[in-house]
Amino acid sequence: MADYDVKDINLAAEGQDKTEWAEATMPVLRQIKERFEAEKPLKGLKVGACLHVTTETANLMITLAAGGADVSLCASNPLSTQDPTAAHLAKNCGIRTFAIKGEDNETYYKHVNEVIDAGVHATMDDGADLVNTLHTSRKAELAGVKYGTEETTTGVIRLRAMGEQGVLGYPVFAINDANTKHMFDNRYGTGQSTIDGMIRATNRLVAGSTFVVSGYGWCGRGLANTARGLGARVIVCEVDPLRGLEAVMDGYRVMPIAKAAPEGDFFCTVTGDINVIDVAHFEKMKNGAIVANSGHFNVELNLEGLGKLATSRRRVREFIEEYSLPNGNNVYVLADGRLVNLSAAEGHPSAVMDMSFANQALTLEWLAKGGADGYNKTVHNVPREIDEQVALLKLNAMGIEIDELTAEQKKYLESWEMGT
Ligand code: ADE
Repeated sequence: MADYDVKDINLAAEGQDKTEWAEATMPVLRQIKERFEAEKPLKGLKVGACLHVTTETANLMITLAAGGADVSLCASNPLSTQDPTAAHLAKNCGIRTFAIKGEDNETYYKHVNEVIDAGVHATMDDGADLVNTLHTSRKAELAGVKYGTEETTTGVIRLRAMGEQGVLGYPVFAINDANTKHMFDNRYGTGQSTIDGMIRATNRLVAGSTFVVSGYGWCGRGLANTARGLGARVIVCEVDPLRGLEAVMDGYRVMPIAKAAPEGDFFCTVTGDINVIDVAHFEKMKNGAIVANSGHFNVELNLEGLGKLATSRRRVREFIEEYSLPNGNNVYVLADGRLVNLSAAEGHPSAVMDMSFANQALTLEWLAKGGADGYNKTVHNVPREIDEQVALLKLNAMGIEIDELTAEQKKYLESWEMGT
């Protein structure tokens, strides 16, 4: 059995059942795993992964191990770990696993460090906490890292900043920026799993409510669409004029959060920025307003400020904190402002993670074969061929065929002479 620190190793059988359930809708990753088993393209590669420890991640870890990688895994968020899955990985899959749902900050970073202790040639991060640790308190281990991948928007933003300042120690590949990642995972995955988390936490009716979405990137687009699909009247708040305009044309009301605050029954932030819902906004909310965040870090809601403003607070239900305000209203914050979709629900459905993690596995294979040799120490895109291959494999797995260009059409696209 691998080294581990999990909640209860006896949960492994439950974790195995759930991991197999997820695998049933991850056909692209399964095909890659089968090929990896035969070809072992990752033989001897030490992979340090800092990801949400879910059943979908378990299938990715199993795929990398099938390819010959020596894998160590810690959580990328203290609340997102599925304890049975962590137990299954440690007990049955030979993956060093360090993750416990609800771990405190100290344990969270102890686990990140345990992954580094195991030796790392390649990082696979979600939010860049592993990369950050390697560049701050574990600099001595940086020299051994050859390359890395980053799963999420927030992590890519942090790493690009490091690359631009010349402090990134190795090239990192932005899985998030592959089309087959953000167009599906961020949009449909966040859309469904965020609403899922908010409903599981509250059991409140969305139909007929006013649902405020802060941020209209890929995640916000998906969230607004899912809330509308459930019958909510959706308000979008944005800072980017283009995205604000897009939200208007998509049929939503668009206004600043200060104006939306008194209207919303539900609020959810998906911006990647800090204090998006601030004290002044909480003060204006209706009695009973429900507030959540689905952005990577728990900084989007100013909970420190809310805590100072509140006359009292109490836990009224798992994942729900009631804050009583001086104006007599109560507001309810879900999952302590951490990613509500992974804290109160199970994260994105496996059918979308299939594509995100296929990009991870294929990019790592390409890296192990020397794909990034000579690349500088900044953030790079996943090769377009990998992105296209993932889309094609997914369509094939869904049994969907598409057209091919005829020779005449190809020629037309390459020419310029033919006009009206
Ligand atoms: N991020 C969002 N949903 C996820 C999931 N199901 N597994 C891993 N990472 C995720």
